[in-house]
Amino acid sequence: MARNTIKAVDKHKKTYHIISFGCQMNAHDSEKLAGILQGMGYTPAGDETTAGLVVYNTCCIRENAENRVFGNLGYMKYMKQKNPGLVVAVGGCMPQQEAALEKLKETGAADILFGTHNLHTFGSLLEQALDTGIKVTDIWQEWDGSDRGYISAVRENPWRSGVNIMYGCDNFCSYCVVPLVRGRERSRKPDEILDEIRALINDGVVEIMLLGQNVNSYGQKSNDGAAFPELLRLVAGLKPALPRIRFMTSHPKDLSLELIHAIRDCENICRHIHLPVQSGSDKILQAMNRKYTREDYLSLLSALRREVPDITVTTDIIVGFPGETDDDFEATLELVRQARFGGAFTFLYSKREGTKAAEMDCPVPENTANERFARLVDTINPIALEISKSWEGRIVQVLAEKLEKGMFTGRAGNNMPVHFPDNGASSPIGSIVPVKITEGRTFFLIGEQCYQNHE
Ligand code: 5AD
Ligand code: SF4
Repeated sequence: MARNTIKAVDKHKKTYHIISFGCQMNAHDSEKLAGILQGMGYTPAGDETTAGLVVYNTCCIRENAENRVFGNLGYMKYMKQKNPGLVVAVGGCMPQQEAALEKLKETGAADILFGTHNLHTFGSLLEQALDTGIKVTDIWQEWDGSDRGYISAVRENPWRSGVNIMYGCDNFCSYCVVPLVRGRERSRKPDEILDEIRALINDGVVEIMLLGQNVNSYGQKSNDGAAFPELLRLVAGLKPALPRIRFMTSHPKDLSLELIHAIRDCENICRHIHLPVQSGSDKILQAMNRKYTREDYLSLLSALRREVPDITVTTDIIVGFPGETDDDFEATLELVRQARFGGAFTFLYSKREGTKAAEMDCPVPENTANERFARLVDTINPIALEISKSWEGRIVQVLAEKLEKGMFTGRAGNNMPVHFPDNGASSPIGSIVPVKITEGRTFFLIGEQCYQNHE
């Protein structure tokens, strides 16, 4: 084993800074890491330049996420020369992949390397690194059955919390590395989830986000648990009631009528669904192994909107998947026009080692992909603006979260950011307040707080 760069453990300050990359799951895992560290007496440093311990919680879904980590580690190497007590840990999805792990080791910047399956052991890995002065690499190939739900998280926001309902993914979309780094799908037991949520409600949380790579297949592999619509109804029925429930991410192939009915029937389930479509071409959807057609997707949207008329739908779209022709791309643009998304995350296809798509021929030339990307954004944005404008004059409920330059910011039930001026009355931060929308902009709304709820 290599000697550690922790030359002077005595100089190690018990302050930490965690930098998260990637999805909501990673953000929530980072809150759990913060919980572990605060339990060990560490305090937040505020930024990576002053911390005694810097943890990178990494993502490998696209190459640029990885490159950003390598860029940061270069800076950490420099910081370690200036501060020999500095400990650097790298966890999450990147170390879980062999090639990335080797490259991480080569940087020489990390004292601790850990993966997605052993986040709960981070405290002992840190102690080991500090006690021995030797670099620690501990990557588990599989999950050991322990539930990280029991680790109490330090929330970035006191009113909102993620709650894992399942881990891993079995879908093997052909472009996606997640099933390779997060392992097979496993669902937590409903009772454990409900207990965790009750504790969060007691702690002042008003909004929770149920988290899983594909929440719609929750419970499908276990015969003792509820399915996702039942779980949602159980969470929605908790007393004292939770004002807001969100969930993410939904896979269209598993979105059932029961789920649509649960959203319709439970007022405290937010009127927003993130439903990644990825492409509007049946040929590409098949090559992506998504298991639905564009017609399936569009009929799902019709059913959702019929039952829950105010629902805002957002999506993910990949541009430049291998073999994507002009016609395939036009089909995506046409789907965007028909689907009318309130927002969309758009990604350039990124080749990931170990996935099926990495072996596919016919890569799309970079300039073609870039051109398509720009056209896609130009198609999405005006529609999102029209949707925002359709909220003008209406009152929405906003969970106010921060005040900046005289404007409060929060999110409406449909997940749109809403900005409204501070009128000098008591601070709404942490509460859900009615706001009359005066202006809809692309991807956000502007309004005024009102003191009588007419909705
Ligand atoms: N290249 C580009 N985008 C990807 N995504 C997942 N894998 C890749 C990839 N290899 C996108 C999908 C997914 C989102 C979280 O990231 O759109 O829904
Ligand atoms: Fe990746 Fe598909 Fe699983 Fe989502 S559902 S994590 S895109 S494999």
